[in-house]
This record gives sequence, C-alpha cells and structure tokens, in this order.
Amino acid sequence: MKTLKISSFSEYEKQYEFSVSNPELFWDGVASTFLWKKKWDKTLTWNFEEPKVRWFEGATLNITENIFERNLPLKKDQLALIWEANDPSQTNRTYTFEELHHSVNQCANGLKALGITKGDRVCIYLPMVPELTIAVLACARIGAVHSVVFAGFSATSLSDRINDADAKLVITSDGLNRGTKQMSLKELVDEAISTTTSIEKVLVLKVTNEECPITESRDIWWHELIQNQSIICPAEVMNSEDNLFILYTSGSTGKPKGVVHTCGGYMVYTAYTFMNVYQYEDGDIHWCTADIGWITGHSYIVYGPLLCGATTVMFEGIPTYPEASRFWEIVEKYNVTQFLTAPTAIRSIMAFGEEPTQKHDLSSLKIIGTVGEPINEEAWHWYQDNIGKGTCPVVDNWWQTETGGIMISGIGGISPQKPTFAGYPLPGIQPVLLNQEGEEIKENEQEGYLCIKFPWPSMIRTTYGNHERCKEAYFSQYPGYYFTGDGAKRDTDGMYRIIGRIDDVINVSGHRFGTAEIENAINQNELIIESAVVGYPHPIKGQSIYAFVVCEHVPNDLNEARKAILLTVTDEIGKIALPEKIQFVSGLPKTRSGKIMRRILRKIAEGELDNLGDVSTLLDPSVVEDIVTNRL
Ligand code: PRX
Repeated sequence: MKTLKISSFSEYEKQYEFSVSNPELFWDGVASTFLWKKKWDKTLTWNFEEPKVRWFEGATLNITENIFERNLPLKKDQLALIWEANDPSQTNRTYTFEELHHSVNQCANGLKALGITKGDRVCIYLPMVPELTIAVLACARIGAVHSVVFAGFSATSLSDRINDADAKLVITSDGLNRGTKQMSLKELVDEAISTTTSIEKVLVLKVTNEECPITESRDIWWHELIQNQSIICPAEVMNSEDNLFILYTSGSTGKPKGVVHTCGGYMVYTAYTFMNVYQYEDGDIHWCTADIGWITGHSYIVYGPLLCGATTVMFEGIPTYPEASRFWEIVEKYNVTQFLTAPTAIRSIMAFGEEPTQKHDLSSLKIIGTVGEPINEEAWHWYQDNIGKGTCPVVDNWWQTETGGIMISGIGGISPQKPTFAGYPLPGIQPVLLNQEGEEIKENEQEGYLCIKFPWPSMIRTTYGNHERCKEAYFSQYPGYYFTGDGAKRDTDGMYRIIGRIDDVINVSGHRFGTAEIENAINQNELIIESAVVGYPHPIKGQSIYAFVVCEHVPNDLNEARKAILLTVTDEIGKIALPEKIQFVSGLPKTRSGKIMRRILRKIAEGELDNLGDVSTLLDPSVVEDIVTNRL
C-alpha cells in the first residue's frame, strides 16, 4: 500500500490522471498490494445499462486475511481496537491485532456451530460494543453476508430488513447503553421475528445485564457459545465478486433498499481511501464517531482502518454524555490522531461554546474529518479553529452507502481546502455535473446533478433480491451514468461543493430517510387519511421533518393526536425519524392529476411564503391558503 500513498498534490494530480486514462492498470497496481489467494483474470467488466460491474473477476481472497494474516507479522501486538464505554468510569476494552484475530475466529467458529455457512445472511442488531466489530468480521471470515441494522431502528424496520435479506440468524444483545438511558433490544428482536419466517437462531450478548426474555429452543447466549470455540478458523475462500455485506438505505421511493457490496472491490477501495484521505502512518490512532450500523462505520471504523493495520477507536456513547467535552476527553485519553465526525455532532457541541474544547489537550490530532451531510461555513470554521486549533487540515468526505467509500474529499494536508467544499474527486472517480436535459456541464462555476461516469471498485453491485430496483434508482435517470441523487457545484478551480439531495430524500442529523417511507409510517396511524412530508433547514440537525397530515375529522386534542402519530413513526421506523412539526391540514396541494406539489409544501415549511410560485393549476388552490394560515 505504501507505494500508492499520495504524498503531494502533484502526485495526486499524476495518480488522478493515470487513474482516468488507465483505470484498469491503476487499480491493478492498488490491488496488487493485497493478499489474494488467486490473482484476477480480468480487472474490470462493466456496463451501466444492466447495470453490471465486476472488479478483479476470477480472483479469490478473504478480506479478513487482509486484516489479520497480512498485518500480523508486523502488528501482532499493536492495538487494533480500542473501545470506550458509554459510562466514562467503566474500564475500556482493547484488542491487539492478535487478540482481535482470535476473538473473530472464535466467533466465526461459533457461527459455524450454529449452522451458518458461506452465503447465509446474518442480521446484526447490536449496540456499539467490540462484539459488533467481531461479529461483522466473523461473518466475513466464514463468507456469511452481514446485514447490520442500526440499533435505533424499530422492530418493524428490523423485521422488514430480516425478511428482505432472508436472514437465518440475528445477533443482538439484552440491551444498550446510551447516555443516561438503557434500552432493551432483545424485546424488539422478539417482536421483529414474530413476523419473519427465516430466522432459525438468535445469538444474545450480555451488555446491560438486565433481564430479558429468552426462548430456550431458539436463543443462545453469546458467552456460552463462544467460550469453548477454537481461536483458529481457516478463512473461507471468496470470489472477488461474492457478496460481503448488505446495508439498507433509504431512497426516494418505497422501502429501504439493501445495497450490496462485494469482497474484492470493497476491500481495495476502502483501504486505499482510508490510507490517503487520512494520510495514515504507523502508530496513528483513528477515531470515527459514526455507528457501525451506517456505511461510515463499516468503511472507516472497521474495514478501511483495520485493512491498513491502523488502531481504530469505537465509542459506545454520545457526544454530550456525561458532559459536552466527552469527545475531547476521549481524544486526549487515546492520543487520537485522525478524528472523523458529522456536521450535526459539531453543531450540537458548538452550542455549548468553546470552554468544553479547552479542557483537554487536543495536540495529538493531525487530520479532522467531516462526513454525512453538507457542512455550513460557521461549523467548518468552528471545527478547524477549536478542534483543529487552526492547523489540522479539515477533510470533508462526500460519499454514500452505495459508493462504499469516500468519493470526493480533501486529502489531509495534501490538497487545498475550501470551507463547505468537499474538494476534488479521489483517484479513480470521474464525477460529472449534468443539466436537466442530461447533458454534461463542461464549464465551471455551475450547478448540476452529480453523476459518476465510470465504475470504481466499491460501487453498489445490486439491491438485494431485486436488480431492477438498482437499475431504476441509480442508472435510469441519466442512462450511462450512476446518479447520486445529489446536486453539486464546481468552482473555477474544479473543486466540488455538495449542495444536497435533489430527490425526495431528507438528511436528518446525517441519517437518510425517504419522504415516502415516513409518509407510509404516518399513514399507519388510524387517524390519518393521507400525509405529505418535507425537509426544512434545522440549525443543528441540518434538516428536520415537517409533516402535513389530513385526518377524517380534525382531532379534538391536537397534542394527543400528535403524540399518537409520533408513537406510530417510532414503531414503524424508530425515534430517529420523528417529525419535528406535524400540521393538521384540510387537504394537500395536488395537481389535477392527483400529484402532491411538494415544492409548495417545502416552501411553506421553509417559511418562504412570498415565493410559493404558481398555485392556480392546483386542483383546489384554497388548501394552500389554509396551510399557510395555520403554519407551525
Ligand atoms: O446527500 C449526500 C449526503 O449524504 C448522502 C449519503 O448518505 P448515506 O448513504 O447515509 O451515507 C452517509 C455517509 C457517507 C449523500 O447523498 N452526504 C454525505 N456526505 C456528505 C454529504 N453531503 C455533503 N457533504 C458531505 N461530505
């Protein structure tokens, strides 16, 4: 890997040039630094029509051998994983590469004992504890496909994901610790699997030690299963294009889609991007504050850093517990060198002022990153001044669940940075901006739809169980391109600034939701006839959810009705998707053909009441007046 590390901007330019003119040779070079059991016959086969993308076809490997066997000779005793508990008085847990290897193998052998074999789907619904990383890698070790579900999702969401993936096993815990709260997870799992048919066993880890329901014939305690397992487990031989994992994400239509990533390409790309964006050097301590339930955690807590032999930090808690200085306390405690978080976390900490940031020594930091949503200029400067002390480069990482790894971003300390701009595409990435007609915008200083015109190794291969959906969502809008769903602008220097989603996707605190998904949830409430949901700017969360709901009869007690709707959304999706505002309206603005005019609702939610545009073509223009008058 070392030879492919970019160490100057001119080298970036050279690598970029080469990666575009000779993509296959370029990726051959990167891939050849890994451990393959058999080399590939063909670097790339692709078309964006079906779509069909295959990297390193014919090669065999196991991604965990590239984490362990490849790194162990030099890093056996180096820390691979540092885990910090929610409660600061609880002792942390650490694993060297050798210890993590043994734990992964024991878990892998445990999974085998439960009958899990290559290709089986395993759903992992765990809090941020070391066993989450161990379970993920254990699946990869034996070729089982992991589907991690963020532990903030409801039983219904979990059940949908289990059913879609046809998962055989769920790995969960009694409960989870989050700030001052403890929550039960096992009860949710029991509820979820009452509406599934594929689950054979439930593996339960003790985290909170609270009592939880156990079904003897089906549930197995993690500690009992693992204790006598061997620390040796041969790695399953995987084809480069075998599925590594499924991760569900929301789009503008229907239920969340299971994005599929495969072994070879994902490995090569996450390691390459981690190494370069974060300029990894031996001895660095990398901390990404995301949850492993999201793609950022998969790629930049687990796979990217561990493939590069880095020490990765996992944190169970939240930024403000027990105090607003918790993040900085952890940075100081472990001498964190690279720190990656989301704008929403930065803004929520900013609200406490600068004092919490001054209580700790942050001088170990070398590069700080932001990811998940557009960062506003104020937060960007606050972050660089108070956390980066004016000297650490800030890297703004733009990418998506579907892209597997960082696509457009600064390379720490190497490429120029500009507040609110993600920057230049990484080598191998060929972004374009398209206009409404689908033509490439060649000039700079223009805004357009961000698309990618050439494959990269970690791109989405399919949506699990429904390839047509993958084609429909990402490759049909503009034939011949991968459509990101984001709008972007390119400045005179060719740097990209991400403006935000241009489809019906809302980004709340860095979490993606489809408007249709939230509307479907709201509509489950018996009071509701129909609803429409839009996003509007929120000072901390980036965007918040505004719901316009139509009831058969306007409820007498609006607050009670709101509570009932919130409960329904909590049950259907989870607390992370709760609307901030719920307005009861007599009707929704619709065109004569019955389409909801979200544009108008968005303007109303944003408070741009003088700028609603033409409402005369609506089926019933009077509803707009009513909505404006009663706006929350
Ligand atoms: O709109 C973009 C936004 O988050 C979306 C992807 O969300 P998800 O698949 O959950 O992955 C999040 C972590 C990579 C994108 O379509 N987004 C992500 N990173 C940025 C961003 N918007 C602006 N700047 C970013 N750095």
